[in-house]
Order: sequence, then structure tokens, then C-alpha cells
Amino acid sequence: MSKGWALPDEVLRDAPTYTPRPYELADLEMLLSGAYAPLTGFHTRADLESVRVNAQLADGTPWTVPITLEVPTEIAKQFDLTNPLHRVLVLTDPEGAPIAALDVADVWPTREGYSGVGGPVRRIGDGGHGPFRRLRRTPEEVRSLLPPGRVLGVFADRPLHRPQLAQISHGARLLSAHLLVLIPVGDVGPDGLPPEALVRAIFAARDRMPPATLVAVPLVRRSNEVHDALLRARVASAYGATHLLSTGETLSGGGPRVVIPRELAYDNRDGQWRAREDIPPRNRRLALRPDEIDDLLNRGFPLPEWHTPPAVAKELARARPPRRHRGLVLFFTGLSGSGKSTIARGVADALRESGERTITLLDGDVVRRELSAGLGFSKADRDLNIRRIGWVAAEIARHRGVAICCPIAPYAEARATARAMAHAAGGGFVLVYVSTPLEVCEQRDRKGLYAKARAGQIRGMTGIDDPYEVPTDADLVIDTTNLSVDQAVDMVLQYLIDHGWVEPRLQAIG
Ligand code: ADX
Repeated sequence: MSKGWALPDEVLRDAPTYTPRPYELADLEMLLSGAYAPLTGFHTRADLESVRVNAQLADGTPWTVPITLEVPTEIAKQFDLTNPLHRVLVLTDPEGAPIAALDVADVWPTREGYSGVGGPVRRIGDGGHGPFRRLRRTPEEVRSLLPPGRVLGVFADRPLHRPQLAQISHGARLLSAHLLVLIPVGDVGPDGLPPEALVRAIFAARDRMPPATLVAVPLVRRSNEVHDALLRARVASAYGATHLLSTGETLSGGGPRVVIPRELAYDNRDGQWRAREDIPPRNRRLALRPDEIDDLLNRGFPLPEWHTPPAVAKELARARPPRRHRGLVLFFTGLSGSGKSTIARGVADALRESGERTITLLDGDVVRRELSAGLGFSKADRDLNIRRIGWVAAEIARHRGVAICCPIAPYAEARATARAMAHAAGGGFVLVYVSTPLEVCEQRDRKGLYAKARAGQIRGMTGIDDPYEVPTDADLVIDTTNLSVDQAVDMVLQYLIDHGWVEPRLQAIG
């Protein structure tokens, strides 16, 4: 983006490369497309401080939401900030194809092993790939396509049902505005829909919208709602919206429905978000809540026609098949000897017998032989092990299979990552905590490991001298101390039946 910034090929070739995390890559795309204009790069430390304190960049440009990039410190320390030829970082997509060059203007430590890097970015490479790429028009292109006059921007991060469509039409009519539908495709939506499915669902409602321009925008939700709202207003404005149908709760069927004029949404420094026009909540009571819609889809019931146009319903049913046909990661966690593998095997057998599902059992010990050979039991190795299991399991779920995993998985964060990966693949995730207490596991000691650990022959044994973080997000907790294997297996099967993941007739089997 920075003008006159020509780099010899060999500089790019010799520059360090790095693949940013998905949300950073999304921000990068926003920067490169001009959707974050006037921003041209990732914040420096001075920008960051100034944004926090004064809602402006270090050079005085109004800006409210931090846009940052973090890289491993070993990469960050290679730069010579005084030499333009030795401070280039090539940013690549997950497949390693270069996307952009960052002219590193600032480096600072953030957390253990990582550093912030800031500076302008410039596109290199062919502009990338991915589904619905052609819908990712740049703001400049979109602005040139829009008719003159008012433009009502709407962030459609959820499918549009009749109540939302009515609300949008009403807003557009009220303002005599052309409609600009911005579809966030940077990550999985709040309904758990993968971006492609969201795009299809929004397009399925197109013939029920007033004249509209539809654009896919790689904007990722922040963990901060105010930041989300501010950024959306800013981005909508970059794409040419003069007004914005308020973000957040609006399209979910609750909360205030307000049209915010751009001038107010645009600059929040006085803290004023005055509503220009309220949209009467006349359809509010008729709108199903997202969890009600989810429930219907989960159980395979059709969405009512009064609520959802059939074409939209069809897309949703395809993207969110009933749970009994949806991919599932069944993840057991617990101490060694707690009974995870035994229960998992019993559940796998029962499901295999029923024949309605394809099952892959990713047993802890088997995984360590096949997938994670060479890994030990340090925190880093255990995390990597769980990541690998979670990745494979999510792919299985993507293809609508059932992956049953039973590693110890002692760390909550790694388990949460596995859950997130399953969801991102459109699958379900059920965490079963096998809570059998250490004393019982130790008494069983089938592998003799606890005895060895107590004798000091092995170190870092989970539960003895290595941590196990008890899950606070378990969907099912089973203590096998006083249970037979069959009883424990039945508990899991019953859970799966009760929650619609498998057919009830399974119960008769065995
Ligand atoms: S995890 O921590 O990465 O989830 P995983 O389930 O794959 O562990 O492997 C656990 C199995 O490895 C145990 O069932 C046990 O047989 C064996 N093992 C060997 N050393 C250890 C150790 N230090 N801590 C825990 N399990 C160990």
C-alpha cells in the first residue's frame, strides 16, 4: 500500500516468511483491499497506545480498534529497522503462498516467545483463492457499482429469515436507500455456519430483498462487541454505506433496531451513537430466536415457511443437517486408568453395530504410535498431540463421520481448541469427562505407570507430578469407580440419543 515502495526480488526472496493466524490473515486482507482505509498496515506500538488512549493513530488519523500482528520473537529479532532491505517480512497464507510484504517499522515484546510487529503492508502474489473469491470485491469496486444516493449497509452474519428481510426492506424503504449486504466470511458465524454456507443462505434470500449489492468481507469478530460495532461501521463506510442497520443483535431477532447515520457511527470520539430512526419492532414477536432455529435444524424439523423462505430453509438444512447425520467429535478426557479407552471402545462398538454411522476411534495409545510418534509428555508435546487429534477428528466430522478420541488431554486450552476445530468444520463436539479419582486409577494401575511414578522411575505422570485441569465445560461426567463398563457405555449412548446425535433405536441393540 505504501507508495513508491519497490523491493528487489531478491529482498523478497531472502526475507523471512511467516503465516499469520487466521484472524490476522483476515485483517491483512482487509488492509490490502482498502476496507480498513485509511489504515495501510498493522499498528505500531505508538499507534496501539494512541488508539487506546485517544481513538486515533499516532499520526492523528481517527481509528478505534487495534489491528495488530504478532510473530514469534525469533523471527522478529532478525530485522534491522534502520535498513529498508532488512526489515521486510513476507506474510503467507496457510499453504505458504506469499500474500503480502510487511515493511517492519516497529517490533516489541508481547508475551513469552512472541513479539508485536507493525508497519505498512503491500500485496504480493496473485490475490489468493478460496470459495466465493469473486464476491470479495474491494471497497473501491463496490463503491463504483453502487447507485448514487443513500446506501443502507447491513452486516448479514446470520441467514436472513422473513422477519429480518422485512426489517431490512423497511429500513431501505424508510431511507429510500439502495441495500448493501456485507457478508462476513472471515470465520465461522455466530450460528456455527461455515462462511460458504452463510453466503449460500444469504443469496437464497436475494429475491426477497429490495435492489441490493452483495459483498463477502473477510471481517472476523473480535471478542469485544464495541470493537465489532465500531469496526463494522468503519468497514461499511469504506464500502460506500451511508447508513448502517445496527449490528450485533439486530439480525438475531432481539435488541434495539436502529439506523445509525454514518456520520455518527463513523466517529465515536464523543461517545455519541444517536439513533436516527427506530425501526418499529412489529415483527419481533414473530421471529424465532437463533437457538429455536438451531433446535429445529438439529432435530431435522423443517423451518416453518411463515418464518423462513423455502430456498433459505433448504440451504440451512444442507449446511446444518440433523444431528443424527452431522459429524461429531466425541472426546473423552480423564486420568490414565480412568476408563476412557474402555468406555470409548464400548461406545464405538455399539455405534458400529448399528451401522448408521462411520466411526473412527482415535485411542490415546494408538494415536501416540501412529500420529504422534516421537512426542513425549511435556506440556508442549501434549498440546501438540491434542492438536493433531483435534485436527484429524474435525476432518472426520467435516465428512459427517463420528470421531471418538480418548487422550488424557490434561489442558483445558488444548481441549477448547479441539472443540473449536470441530465446530469450524461444521461438526458437533461432546466432551465426556471421565472423572474417576486418582486413588482409583492408581489402584487399578493396569500399566504399572503409577507405581513407577511413585517410585520416581518416571517423571511428569499426569495426576502425580504433572497437572490435570478438571474440565468446567464437560457435557457429561462419568465416574467409573462404582460402574460396570456396560453402565458407563450406556450413559454415553443415552446422552447421544437424548441429544439427537444417534437414532433412539440404538438402545435396543446389544
Ligand atoms: S496426553 O497428555 O497427550 O493426552 P495421551 O493420552 O496421549 O496423553 O497418552 C497417555 C498415555 O501415555 C497414558 O495412558 C500412559 O499409558 C502413557 N504415559 C506414559 N508416560 C506418561 C506420563 N508421564 N503421563 C501420562 N501418561 C503417560
